[in-house]
Amino acid sequence: MRKYSVAVVGATGLVGTEMISTLEQRNFPVGEITLLASERSLGKELTFRGKEYPVKVLGDESFKGIEIGLFSPGGSISERFAPVAAREGCVVIDNTNAFRMEPDIPLVVPEVNPEEIVNYRNKGIIANPNCSTIQMVVALKPIHDAVGIKRIVVSTYQAVSGTGKDAIEELVTQTRALLAMEPVEINVYPHRIAFNCLPQIDVFMENGYTKEEMKMVNETRKILKAPSMAVTATTVRVPVFYGHSESVNIETEQKITP
Ligand SMILES: NC(=O)c1ccc[n+]([C@@H]2O[C@H](COP(=O)([O-])OP(=O)(O)OC[C@H]3O[C@@H](n4cnc5c(N)ncnc54)[C@H](OP(=O)(O)O)[C@@H]3O)[C@@H](O)[C@H]2O)c1
Repeated sequence: MRKYSVAVVGATGLVGTEMISTLEQRNFPVGEITLLASERSLGKELTFRGKEYPVKVLGDESFKGIEIGLFSPGGSISERFAPVAAREGCVVIDNTNAFRMEPDIPLVVPEVNPEEIVNYRNKGIIANPNCSTIQMVVALKPIHDAVGIKRIVVSTYQAVSGTGKDAIEELVTQTRALLAMEPVEINVYPHRIAFNCLPQIDVFMENGYTKEEMKMVNETRKILKAPSMAVTATTVRVPVFYGHSESVNIETEQKITP
């Protein structure tokens, strides 16, 4: 079987480590693996298929000979380096929000719109949606195909894992401090997250929604190819380590049962 040269960009992060273990679990035909992160990770090693690999520092020269790049180093870093990788002939699959709404870059959930993957040829990049959007559109696609969806009202209950490794640490530290009656430090979120729910994910926009809420609106419309579908979202961060929940209320064009 043909094997591919794969780079994981943001390899030391929560998403990057999941990428590495998914490549292992699925027995993906990896020939060579390159693990890339920031200068902070210089000297670290990560295990892939029982072998230790050094983490290398991401740079302009990182992508020579790399065929597939799995990117999750944050939006601004992807914006800077995904085009560099694509110019070297690497197919980039980007998990950040950097390219999701670019018209000529496909926004793909494999269970929903795999036919879009071929459009990676436009820029050499495939974007991956926001985590809350992904799980919602997987559930809604068969309903949309069968009876058409007119409007969606979604509320999310999102775990701290969605913010990355520093947020997991913050929930642990704050919970410990509160239970020990000690002062709490706030670094990652605008307010304390331990024993609290924050109805703000990302920044507020001019229309009063947060950026996370508008990601759900815009990405859902793009993936379902329904630019005028009525969608409203309320996204809330909850003190849960892993696993997002959602309540989704929909109105369909036709009756589901005749
Ligand atoms: N967590 C989720 O469920 C989730 C889901 C979908 C998408 N995303 C998106 O994926 C991205 C990463 O999320 P995460 O949860 O994995 O965050 P994370 O745990 O904080 O990890 C961030 C990763 O990016 C690397 N990085 C940061 N700055 C860098 C730089 N200047 N150059 C190279 N690498 C750099 C970090 O390397 P160091 O360790 O060296 O700092 C680390 O490997 C974000 O854009 C996020 O929105 C996250």
